[in-house]
Amino acid sequence: MQAKITIPRPDDWHLHLRDGGMLEGVVGDSARHFARAIIMPNLVPPVVTAVQARTYRERILQALSPEVSFEPLMTLYLTETTDPDDVEEAAKSGLVKALKLYPAGATTNSESGVRDFDKVLPVLERMAQIDIPLCVHGEVTDSDIDIFDREAVFIDRVLDPLRRRVPGLRVVMEHVTTREGVDYVMASDSDIGATITTHHLIINRNHLLVGGIRPHYYCLPVAKREQHRLALRAAATSGDIRFFLGTDSAPHATDLKENACGCAGCYTSINTMSLLAHVFEEEKALEQLEQFASRNGPAFYGLPVNETRMTLVKGNTPVTFPQKISTRAGDVTVFDPGFDVFWYVEAD
Ligand code: DOR
Ligand code: ZN
Repeated sequence: MQAKITIPRPDDWHLHLRDGGMLEGVVGDSARHFARAIIMPNLVPPVVTAVQARTYRERILQALSPEVSFEPLMTLYLTETTDPDDVEEAAKSGLVKALKLYPAGATTNSESGVRDFDKVLPVLERMAQIDIPLCVHGEVTDSDIDIFDREAVFIDRVLDPLRRRVPGLRVVMEHVTTREGVDYVMASDSDIGATITTHHLIINRNHLLVGGIRPHYYCLPVAKREQHRLALRAAATSGDIRFFLGTDSAPHATDLKENACGCAGCYTSINTMSLLAHVFEEEKALEQLEQFASRNGPAFYGLPVNETRMTLVKGNTPVTFPQKISTRAGDVTVFDPGFDVFWYVEAD
């Protein structure tokens, strides 16, 4: 018998769409499978004000084919000069669904991020009052901290103290990559959620480094040891309401990744749902895919679950995905899991 699973249409709670020619080239891949996505604001220059978020949203909608329905959920990039009133207005109008905290220097285009957390306390307090979540890139940037330890150290030194200083602030630990991250979320109350990417469920640091360096597996936070990947798999497939899908699909032109100083980011929008069905089946937890990809995210953000549905079917032959997609900003290499995948999304 053919294996088949139908779930409410999924959402992507962490997505990079970029701008211009790259946006035009990639947005269709997300819109094909996802009803909504939380759109990251790390453009150059970053999306800092409500006015910038509104015009970026319009550019995203314009880049979509008219027959496609896809709702970009906008975020603002938190800086040390973010105005609490602008945030409140943008949140109350429904335009902006979250703020994004990048510690300065942590990743792609994070130079305008936060250095001094005291400076953002007034905004964080206002966010707690009006109940808009803070999405956190949880890595310290101190040069003396090993890159593989940056998430765990961030939890102890930054995240936990911050949550104590601003009670009631709801936080999403984005792209959690460690057992420590999973444990921290599990030990907390419902004020905290965590997104998990598809690629961190599939690769560990050996995939990145053994037998040659694989630039298309390089992302931030960097993939960790196998025990951490297994902890992420256990969390994603547990059904625990605090864990949900954020692909962190982050397109870069291939030549900027296959480079002496390659950019961080895996492009997974196009094959995420097939890969997740594979992973959840491997974990004997296909029935939990619905929680992870379609239900827990809306519950955290206080939004309805999508009414439309998606069917995934397991075929007899491997599904083929393009190795690259082409965009006006160069071609983008698609994340290759390194194994055959038999699950495909049935056309509507
Ligand atoms: O791998 C990543 N790519 N991690 C991030 O945090 C940012 C992203 C990007 O924008 O390229
Ligand atoms: Zn990201």
